[in-house]
Amino acid sequence: MVDLIVKSQDIIDRILTLELVRVTERAAVSAARLRGRGDEKAADQAAVDAMRRELSRLPIEGTVVIGEGERDRAPMLFIGEKLGTASGPKVDIAVDPLEGTTLCARDMPGSIAVMAMAAAGSLLNAPDVYMEKIAIGPGYPRGIVDIDMTPEENIRALAKAKGVRPNEISVLVLDRERHKQIIEDCRRIGCPLRIIPDGDVAGIIYTAQPEQTGIDLYLGIGGAPEGVLAAGALRCVGGQMQGRLILDTEEKIARAAGMGVKDPHRKYDMKELASGDVIVSLTGVTDGALVAGVRFDKDVIRTETLIYRSTSGTVRKIAAEHREMDKFNLD
Ligand code: FBP
Repeated sequence: MVDLIVKSQDIIDRILTLELVRVTERAAVSAARLRGRGDEKAADQAAVDAMRRELSRLPIEGTVVIGEGERDRAPMLFIGEKLGTASGPKVDIAVDPLEGTTLCARDMPGSIAVMAMAAAGSLLNAPDVYMEKIAIGPGYPRGIVDIDMTPEENIRALAKAKGVRPNEISVLVLDRERHKQIIEDCRRIGCPLRIIPDGDVAGIIYTAQPEQTGIDLYLGIGGAPEGVLAAGALRCVGGQMQGRLILDTEEKIARAAGMGVKDPHRKYDMKELASGDVIVSLTGVTDGALVAGVRFDKDVIRTETLIYRSTSGTVRKIAAEHREMDKFNLD
C-alpha cells in the first residue's frame, strides 16, 4: 500500500514536470512577442497572464508563495493566491513570469520565464525585499564558502577547493553600486568578473554548470524572491547557496514577520530556502548562457527549457517546436 502511494506520488511528480515546461514555455512566448519594444510592463503582464492561465488548468491544489507581490499590490499571481483545479496534490508555487523585464524590453541576453513547484510548506515565503546571496555549483565540500566571509576569503577558499589559483575563479555579480567592495576585491585578486545588468536567478544557476557558463561563484545582493527560485534549481544539482533577507526598516521586519520570518537576521541555507521535493522550470525569453530565447518562424515557434527535479537530481533540456500556433495567440 505504502509502495503504491509512493508510486502514484512519483507519477504525479513526473506528469507535473512536463506540465511545468508548458507553463514557462507559454509565459516565455508571450513575453518574447514584446521583446525589444521598450515596454517592460506590457511584456511582464503578457507573461503573467499566460503563466496564470496555464497554472489554473493544472491538477493541483496550489498556493502562490512567491509571486508578483503581496495581495494588495498585485492583482494576479499574488502571494496567497490559490491556483489549479484543486483536484491534485497540495503544492507551493513560486513564479517569476518574466525575470529580467528590462532585458526583455531591450532585447538583451538573459531574460527567462521561471517557476518552481514544491510540496506545500517547502518554499520560504520570502517578502519582496533584497537578499544577500552566495552560491557555488556541485562537487565541493559543504560549507567552504559563507556569506559572512569577505569576497576575498570566499574566492580564496573556493580556489583551494577547486585546485586552481584565486585569479582563476570566475565570479558573477549584478551591476549595482552596492557591489563596489566585491568588484574591488575581484579586481585586486585578478579574477575574471562577469557583471550583468539584471537577472540573478539565471546568474546563480550559472554556477551549477560552470563548464557551460564559465561561472564558479555568485556573490551579491538581489531580490529575495529570486533567491528562493534559484535555490530550488541549485538544490536539484547539489550546489550550495546561502541567503539572508535584508530587513533594514521596521516596516520590512513587520512585513516579513507577517509572512512567518521570526528571526530577521537569519542566514538561510539552500535547503531552508527550498526544502522538500521541488521542480523548477525555466524557459529562455531572450538568448542566454543556459537557454536560447524564443524563435518565431512562419509556421513554428521554438523554445528552450531547462527543467530541474530534486527527487531524482535530473536536469532536462527541452528544445520544443510548437505548431499549434493558435494556442499561443490567446493574448
Ligand atoms: P525584474 O525582472 O523584476 O526587473 O528583476 C530583475 C533583477 O535584476 C533580479 O534578477 C534581481 O534579483 C533584482 O532585479 C535586483 O534588484 P534591483 O534592480 O533593485 O537591484
